[in-house]
Amino acid sequence: MIKIGIITASDKGSKGERVDQSGAVIREIVEQINGEVILYEILPDEQEAIAKALIRFADQEQLDLILTTGGTGLGPRDVTPDATLQVIDKVVPGIAEVMRMESLKKTNRAMLSRAVAGIRKKSLIINLPGSPKAVRECLEVVLPALPHGIEILKGEAGECARE
Ligand code: MTE
Repeated sequence: MIKIGIITASDKGSKGERVDQSGAVIREIVEQINGEVILYEILPDEQEAIAKALIRFADQEQLDLILTTGGTGLGPRDVTPDATLQVIDKVVPGIAEVMRMESLKKTNRAMLSRAVAGIRKKSLIINLPGSPKAVRECLEVVLPALPHGIEILKGEAGECARE
């Protein structure tokens, strides 16, 4: 079982003015890797609030995988990647590279997401864009590699050699 946390960054969602469809899409997709959603929060697009939640999810709750949705664009209140960079120990560039590469096949606006991925302690943190469609497109492309990455991060997989 993979312990998962979801953080939806949305000013409107946090005020109850918008239903969080993207969080629901994440819940549905992570079932494919036997993921169990332990924590789920909707936060305003505030860098400090997002950074604090990421730290709590990683350090106290020790979740394996923390998925954020929203706030990755160029808008003045889009700060999720900045909060993530503030708290991660190491960047995992390939995850965001692949998401953008595959997403570009669907829309050239994929380049407008500043999403990052990285690790804090034993947690893997991945930013996803905000729309339910983008969440599906980005998460499905990286999902198959995640269980192995998480095993290695937790020290449960010794080596990567495959036939
Ligand atoms: N990636 C995929 N796969 N599909 C999409 O529809 N939308 C893009 C981009 N990434 C999109 C996508 C758009 S329009 C924007 S503005 C950026 O993600 C940032 O979105 P966010 O600010 O909601 O995080």
